[in-house]
Amino acid sequence: MIKILQNFTYILLQIILLPISLIGMSYANYKQQKNSKKAKISYTAGQVIQGKWILHYFNIRKDYNIIKFIKNFPAESHIGFYMMFSAAILANNLVNFIPKALIKNNLDDISSYSFLFFRTKKIDQLVKCNIEKVEQFVVLGAGFDLRSIRYNNDKLKVFELDKKNTQKLKLDTLKKAKIITNNITYIECDLNNNEWSIDLIKQGFNKNKKTLFLFESVGCYLEEDIVNNILSTIKSISAKGSMVIQDIYSTRFLHQDEFQRVKRGKKLIQNFGENWNFTMNMDNNVEAEISKLLEKNNLIPLENYICGKNSTKSKNPFYAISLSKV
Ligand SMILES: C[S@@+](CC[C@H](N)C(=O)[O-])C[C@H]1O[C@@H](n2cnc3c(N)ncnc32)[C@H](O)[C@@H]1O
Repeated sequence: MIKILQNFTYILLQIILLPISLIGMSYANYKQQKNSKKAKISYTAGQVIQGKWILHYFNIRKDYNIIKFIKNFPAESHIGFYMMFSAAILANNLVNFIPKALIKNNLDDISSYSFLFFRTKKIDQLVKCNIEKVEQFVVLGAGFDLRSIRYNNDKLKVFELDKKNTQKLKLDTLKKAKIITNNITYIECDLNNNEWSIDLIKQGFNKNKKTLFLFESVGCYLEEDIVNNILSTIKSISAKGSMVIQDIYSTRFLHQDEFQRVKRGKKLIQNFGENWNFTMNMDNNVEAEISKLLEKNNLIPLENYICGKNSTKSKNPFYAISLSKV
């Protein structure tokens, strides 16, 4: 009964507020595309923080820094998002309506939309559970992620790596938003070459200290041999017991025609110089495939979260998050 009332309230408000939602959506998209291109930054890194904005406003994952960040970020529109989600937010305030995609946690049912929210929540959980066990936190291809601020502690040394323009705009925005980044070292890099590990060590990374590496939705933009190279470099520069959180997409998901949303997305991101690359065949034993990738690079698999077995047309998973250790 409550569900019916919640859905009815949302649909009614959405009909009334449709023009506002559409204006908000058009404005937010226009601002993101125009200014991402102008600043030559990662467009897809912007997409990720939109999901975090949504989770915040539905009280699922409070993140005041992401909101402050977006308000000061030239390539996103806080007002645009507010207008776009006005009906759903109002329905949330009135009758506690929550879009289903935000709270789906059953791995088999995670869809090509809800995985964006699942990924943020699951990786939060993995970082939170493991950050106290390490002395260093390295975020590879950090984009506009603010977890290194969210999970910071006094004994932690943090390094964030990304391409020059994306990192520069992140730093400018953090400054404007007055978000404190005391113990974080920002390193410009191109993960396609090995210099990132040399720079990391030059900037104070200690090979003898246990480290947590976060490699979230970056490997899919790199070629397979680069992903292997990054994983084996992590192994070679890290203390025993160090850990890696990474995610992997299926070949069907990023390179075939099963997912129309992804097909459209592929064309869009190419306009910003981003291309999907490394994927994994997830049609058979995904656990075994992930183990093969990790063991090839001398990492030890610990936990896997394999998504979408029931939600896809082909009934094959399309996305996985893995935790491994050195
Ligand atoms: C989808 S975003 C993910 C950002 C962040 N990890 C997150 O989940 O919010 C992909 C990120 O990978 C970075 N990236 C892609 N190729 C890279 C490369 N060759 N060197 C360094 N960073 C790269 C992009 O700049 C972008 O920030």
